[in-house]
This record gives sequence, structure tokens and C-alpha cells, in this order.
Amino acid sequence: MAPQLKRVRSDWQGAVLVCGKCSKKLDGGFGKKGRTPLAKLLRKILGLKTGRKAHLGVVETRCLGVCPRDAVALVDARRPGEWLVVPRHADVAELAAQLERPQIYPPAAVDPAEAGIQTRKSV
Ligand code: FES
Repeated sequence: MAPQLKRVRSDWQGAVLVCGKCSKKLDGGFGKKGRTPLAKLLRKILGLKTGRKAHLGVVETRCLGVCPRDAVALVDARRPGEWLVVPRHADVAELAAQLERPQIYPPAAVDPAEAGIQTRKSV
């Protein structure tokens, strides 16, 4: 017999997974002073409420296995086949706009090596 699962309502219409280890390695890496973690800045720019009351979940995760140099790996769960690598000091406002409207992503699903993105494994 299948266990009875409890359900919890959420307002999330999507989830964005941000590598917390990348952010830690950059010592933040974003914002005016370059010390704000990407997930925190995204939540601020998007004006997200906390927890399940937000319309979009932005969650810091453990290492996603991409490990880009001087950048943060990010997955928009609405587009799981195309992960993003966000360089330090990138325009987070523009990224937030893309995450608000995922249909406007530039068509650029590429191999990190082809895109010239250095990862720990490629060096
Ligand atoms: S440290 Fe961020 S993907 Fe590995």
C-alpha cells in the first residue's frame, strides 16, 4: 500500500537552482561591491517573497558538477536541458528579466568548452 503523502500548496511557478559552492568560491561575486551571492541578488531584484509564497523559487544548492571558473552555475527548472553559467559581475538585472520570461533566453545551448567557458576540468 502506498504511503499517504501530505501535500503543501506553493505559489511557485518555477524553481531556479543556484550553486551555493560557486557563490562561496567567488565570495559573493555580484552586486555593487561584488560581495553579494547571486541567489540573494536575484531574489532582491525579482522582489520575491520568502519560501513557498514567492511566485518563483530561487534556491541555493550544493555543487552542480559544472564548476565554472569565476562564475556561478544556475539551472532554471523550467528549462532543465539548458544550464546557465553566470560570470562574476554579470548584469543580474538582465538575468532576472530572462528568468521572469524564460521564453526570451537566447538560443545558445552549447558545450562549455565550445563556448570558451573554463571549468576546473577543462584546464
Ligand atoms: S562548484 Fe558550482 S557547480 Fe561545482
